[in-house]
Amino acid sequence: MISPQTIQQITNRIDIIDVVGEFVKLKKRGANYLGLCPFHGEKTPSFTVSPAKEIYKCFGCGRSGNTIGFLMEHEKYSYVEALRWLAARYNIEVEETEVSDDVKLLQQAAESLHIINNFAQKFFTTQLFETDDGKDIALTYLQERGFKDEIIQKFQLGYNPAYGNVFAKAAIQQQYNSELLLKSGLVVNRNDELADNYRGRIIFPIHNNTGKIIGFGARVIGKADRAPKYINTPENEIYVKSKILYGSYFARQNIDRLDECLLVEGYTDVISLHQAGIENAVASGGTSLTVDQLRLIKKYTNNLTIIYDGDSAGIKAALRGLDMALEESLNVKLVLIPDNEDPDSYVNKVGTTAFKQFVADNKKDFVLFQLEVMLKDAGNDVSKKNDVVNQVAETLSKINRAEDFTKQQEYIRQCSSILRIDETGLTTLVNKYKRDRVAKDEKHRQAEENTIAAQDTAEGASEENVFLVNQDEPQERNILRVLLEYGLNKWDDDATMAQYIFNELEQFDFNNTDLEHLYNEYRKQYEAGLEPTVKKLLYHDEKIIRDLVVLITMFPYELSQRWDEKLENMNILNRDTSRQDVGRSVMFFKLKKLKRMCEENQQNMERSKNLHEQMQLMEIHRHLKNMEIELTKQIGTVIIK
Ligand code: CTP
Ligand code: MN
Repeated sequence: MISPQTIQQITNRIDIIDVVGEFVKLKKRGANYLGLCPFHGEKTPSFTVSPAKEIYKCFGCGRSGNTIGFLMEHEKYSYVEALRWLAARYNIEVEETEVSDDVKLLQQAAESLHIINNFAQKFFTTQLFETDDGKDIALTYLQERGFKDEIIQKFQLGYNPAYGNVFAKAAIQQQYNSELLLKSGLVVNRNDELADNYRGRIIFPIHNNTGKIIGFGARVIGKADRAPKYINTPENEIYVKSKILYGSYFARQNIDRLDECLLVEGYTDVISLHQAGIENAVASGGTSLTVDQLRLIKKYTNNLTIIYDGDSAGIKAALRGLDMALEESLNVKLVLIPDNEDPDSYVNKVGTTAFKQFVADNKKDFVLFQLEVMLKDAGNDVSKKNDVVNQVAETLSKINRAEDFTKQQEYIRQCSSILRIDETGLTTLVNKYKRDRVAKDEKHRQAEENTIAAQDTAEGASEENVFLVNQDEPQERNILRVLLEYGLNKWDDDATMAQYIFNELEQFDFNNTDLEHLYNEYRKQYEAGLEPTVKKLLYHDEKIIRDLVVLITMFPYELSQRWDEKLENMNILNRDTSRQDVGRSVMFFKLKKLKRMCEENQQNMERSKNLHEQMQLMEIHRHLKNMEIELTKQIGTVIIK
């Protein structure tokens, strides 16, 4: 956990124009800034940033949020990652709190590994470009394969010399811990000494999504006869193979922009495509795709195009597990590169334009492709063909989201035609698989439900119910709006607006638990002397609070058209309308609550069979009605000074 002090320091320094301006070209327009929305394609700018409110909003696609939200959305950072990014930008030292010893150790190991990898990358790159062996053996090899210096530098390739264990020696000289060095995979123990693990190899650093080096692939130079072609980093605290997509750091913005991710097998495929200006390519390393990798892709796009060479053993590996892609609603297409070429050699041979054209012309649907492959394997074997039908039905049953229904129908039509079986028969089979799974999931769910129910009440508000509307919500939201906006201003000589509101609402409850949570949080901070403001709450560590603050300040409910117009007119005259706004909001809130209480009281009266109780309820009714009438009168006669 990042300490509250650090978060405070960070939020004090945040300048939304500076941060958003890093990614979007902004022009000043009055009090706001305007630019082309980075989240959807547009030609006329509707992306607005308000430095005063520290909020951005796109009037085209509707996306909005604060600075942290922007980083989370645009860079796909987590909340904590966004904070760290800002801390690094403003040179703020991050102080951690409440970290258990285990977590601390893990973090330290991870941090140390990053540092070692960083050192190693610089070392290897220097070897590649500045030593005779590096230049003669490694750089020449890379250049012969068509890689230009610029791309070699962009991907930070390097060279580990074949002799003398020069890396191990340099690392020891830098006093890196030998245990960590071993863990990093950069060195191995040989005759009780640390020796280079990647001797005589080209080094491909592997970056995570934020550009940090988490490991390496080390390729032999030339043909791999005796030694393995690649040696890869062993799994450790930061190198988790199932979560890695090589090149994602360099490709992610383009995947987002082009709304398509190209997946190839090898490091060299990625680098060659990027060199050719096809910059939305990543590699899986030839293994079957994992859910984590698919989710990584899904952060940026729903369209995945797999480009493999036609004879690759990797195709089957890639196809395995792609049922998951269907469940995740990804559209998966497959392109096979012909004639023993792979994407790397093919793009070098035919050039960018022809390569792109080839991909566009040869995209095959992955479901249909899989079917073709299986049918070919089955040949004339009837029982194998039967298996294929079942397999296809099971695959199609995974397409389960409502919005994918047409897609599923279309697949059923095409597959039954290829299989030469009856369409309704296949539909029945697909539905059977679906039902089977639903039944299984249901069992699973019920088992989990009890535990979750217990957790839910403990955790309080969940993300989903933020936008649930209840009948009192406009009034409740409006109270929070004025509280956030004017809370710290003076109501009169004795009290602030916040105190006035707290007093007036003391006997009333909120209906919406999320809004109540925000109200209580505001009150807690206020009473602790923390002077809560929109700006501070926008950086609260609870997502629900941040979301609500954006929602309330960006999309205030209009309570009364006429009232708003009056306020607007007064605003134009530069009068301070906060008192009226607060007073009015409190009255509307109370009136609504009174009405609700009256209704409930009425119901109780109808239900009651006891005369004495009925009399009491009647008394309450009269009391409530009087208050209501009084309030209505006040509201009707509010005089705007
Ligand atoms: N791979 C690996 N270990 C191996 C062979 C391959 O980890 N022994 C992974 C690497 O990630 C490699 C990918 O599988 O990038 C694809 O393999 P291949 O096509 O053989 O390698 P390329 O990187 O394409 O190398 P080149 O183009 O130089 O043959
Ligand atoms: Mn290759």
